[in-house]
Amino acid sequence: MSAHASPAKLIAHPVSRLQGRVRAPGDKSVSHRSLMFGALALGETRITGLLEGEDVLATAAALRAMGAQIEHEGAGAWRVRGFGVGGGREPDNVLDLGNSGTSARLLSGILASHRFTSFMTGDGSLRRRPMQRVIEPLSRMGARFEAREGGRMPLTIIGTDEMVPIEYRLPVASAQVKSAILLAGLNTTGETTVIEPEATRDHTERMLRHFGAEVRVVPADGGGKRITVVGWPELKARDIVVPGDPSSAAFAVVAAAIRPGSDVTVENVGLNPLRAGLYETLRDMGADIEFQNQREIGGEPVADLRVRGGELQGVEVPPERAPSMIDEYPILAVAASCAKGTTRMLGLAELRAKESDRLASVAAGLAVNGVRHEMGVDNLIVHGTGAPPQGGGLVVTHLDHRIAMSFLVLGLATREPVAVDDGSPIDTSFPGFARLMNDLGGRVETA
Ligand code: S3P
Repeated sequence: MSAHASPAKLIAHPVSRLQGRVRAPGDKSVSHRSLMFGALALGETRITGLLEGEDVLATAAALRAMGAQIEHEGAGAWRVRGFGVGGGREPDNVLDLGNSGTSARLLSGILASHRFTSFMTGDGSLRRRPMQRVIEPLSRMGARFEAREGGRMPLTIIGTDEMVPIEYRLPVASAQVKSAILLAGLNTTGETTVIEPEATRDHTERMLRHFGAEVRVVPADGGGKRITVVGWPELKARDIVVPGDPSSAAFAVVAAAIRPGSDVTVENVGLNPLRAGLYETLRDMGADIEFQNQREIGGEPVADLRVRGGELQGVEVPPERAPSMIDEYPILAVAASCAKGTTRMLGLAELRAKESDRLASVAAGLAVNGVRHEMGVDNLIVHGTGAPPQGGGLVVTHLDHRIAMSFLVLGLATREPVAVDDGSPIDTSFPGFARLMNDLGGRVETA
């Protein structure tokens, strides 16, 4: 899984408007967690709406290597027979997690709390990403690690089933690090506590409760949240319905919002408040987005989003909004390129630690497409004129699915087509992206 399908150059041609109804693919964060919790529970967990992207399949393969029985029953329908908390077996080979940071960080919490040694690696993008952020707290709990320079993968994890409970204050706002510690806390006597100064996505906490673990969340001294999990719960298999992914829905929503005359409905979009920052920002920019048919799916708020294209205005996006839209800045930069006025995006340091240095990748993509902008250490300022940007550039994706999809959306709204050098990473999170955009009237093609 380290090597994606061979690089596939894609090109998006400008179109006049988008129309139609599509369904958002399953949420990536919830999909990873439903497989992991299914594996940590006893009995049979049935999952529907699972995202069948490469990242989630990497998690499934790793859990199988630890002894979980995971079967595919039909589109999005999966069945997991778990090994129970602390009941995994030693994988007999290196776990290859492809492009998936979520698999690497969350599984390291599970692996570290087993008494065996395991090895993990990934593709060129994942091998560059920081693992020290999970190595540090999990080492305090008693596991040992060997990593490359700078805490990079490949990684050796020397686990223990005698972990020490810790109280840990997250130095960076990261749901992955929080989740790794809470997952390790399951196979630890006593209470493990994570303090997060800024709230990040809470799918792990919701799922812990859903599977019967005791989790307490209270305000932390000095702001933020104190999240405590009680060790050695008996997790019981539960059914899970995965809502649609707000981060994937964002591409169709922005494509419609930046093409005047468009009328697109994206169904089944998960709107967990800790994930929905982009939609708030688009509304601040004047986007016409209606939340229809609001309901709950699998304990998460969900709605169908009807988007009508029109004029957008530049806005300032405050740093405290970053955790709730951390994966959406590339596509927001595309919206900002088509808006009238200046959009200031602040507090973006974490973007440099994503599948690529996303701040640099976005800035380079804007530059080759004639969009005026300034990049700082942790901010991005985009100057839109309200007229379609020039386009015509070839964007380097650096194995980053969201860079590929964002700039293909830009190419639907520029004067000249926009190409990306490699669209193959799109399958990590959004298989069928080009087809879905083209069903709405887009023109995304193999170049
Ligand atoms: C994720 C958390 C975020 C996000 C990633 C998925 C998760 O990463 O960027 O795509 O499922 O927990 P960080 O925790 O590193 O911010």
